[in-house]
Amino acid sequence: MRIALICAAALAAAPISVSAQDAGRNLAASCAMCHGTTGYSVGGNEPLAGMPKDELERKFKEFRSGAKPATAMHQISKGYSDGQLAQIAAFFAAQKK
Ligand code: HEC
Repeated sequence: MRIALICAAALAAAPISVSAQDAGRNLAASCAMCHGTTGYSVGGNEPLAGMPKDELERKFKEFRSGAKPATAMHQISKGYSDGQLAQIAAFFAAQKK
């Protein structure tokens, strides 16, 4: 029980030592296989690098609600909270086009 508590505390504390920029980059890594590591497009998908934060968040939420047509992004967009999305959007907005 004691060990479980220590583990839980360590896990809970972990994000504090990661800067917001790092957290965004880590989350954005799961977008990389289709959108490129820093948002440079691979295989003709939309580039995300340099996309304004508001625009990325809006499009992502439109995918989530189904308002924007998609083949892949409907499913993907359901896996992220608004807080995670804000971090991802901030990361891509900070990348040069
Ligand atoms: C499996 C491949 C794949 C992954 C992983 C992926 N995307 Fe996409 N993304 C697409 C495709 C394909 C489109 C074009 C719309 C569609 O058909 O779903 C797209 C479109 C988008 C668009 C709209 C671009 C525009 O200007 O219209 C945004 C924003 C976006 N993705 C963000 C993300 C983010 C953020 C992640 C990571 C959380 C991510 N995507 C992960 C394949 C992917």
